[in-house]
Amino acid sequence: MTQRPTPTGKEIRLDSKKHIVSKTDTKGNILYANDYFTEVSGYNKSELIGTPHNILRHPDMPKAIFKLMWDSIKSNQNITAVVKNLAKSGDHYWIVTDFDIQKDPNTGAIKNYIAYRQAAPKKVVAVIEPLYKTLKEIEDKHDIEASFEYLTGYLQEKNMGYHQFIEELAKPTGMAAMFFEAMKKLF
Ligand SMILES: Cc1cc2nc3c(=O)[nH]c(=O)nc-3n(C[C@H](O)[C@H](O)[C@H](O)COP(=O)(O)O)c2cc1C
Repeated sequence: MTQRPTPTGKEIRLDSKKHIVSKTDTKGNILYANDYFTEVSGYNKSELIGTPHNILRHPDMPKAIFKLMWDSIKSNQNITAVVKNLAKSGDHYWIVTDFDIQKDPNTGAIKNYIAYRQAAPKKVVAVIEPLYKTLKEIEDKHDIEASFEYLTGYLQEKNMGYHQFIEELAKPTGMAAMFFEAMKKLF
């Protein structure tokens, strides 16, 4: 890809019931993308397959988050990550991503990563957007080490890892939580 789309600042509204799925090799080259992925990103399958996943990287995304993500999945640990993605049109969408790590049954070596994404709830974006803005500003002025240190301090204050922090944030609260609790009692 020669030219990256210019961000429009416009948000794409996702269907909260649908998943955006992709499978990559160990370097993050896309091997599979589902239909909702192509629909939302605006790229067709032939544009996506064989392409590095950073085709979707939004310039607002701090490098520290991708470092955290890669460190985790490379060491065979799932991570729930919040990512702002850039579509071909320049519009963006916020997602919560979970990973599946597939290994070669003979060697045990990691073979593929699968990412499952859903629309990030508004309350998650409300907390994450200002945090990522700060991390990005620190990276622009200093470097990724400095933003990583800031993120570490931010999470230490909350006494949580990033994964747990996102899980807590994305957990249903208020009426939705009461509804889920009531539902659970029925089963
Ligand atoms: C399974 C998988 C899914 C990924 N999904 C995304 C994604 O949706 N958006 C994104 O910007 N990066 C995604 N990445 C990370 C990219 O590979 C890349 O690290 C990131 O875009 C940062 O770009 P850079 O490494 O060129 O700085 C994914 C990686 C893997 C392994």
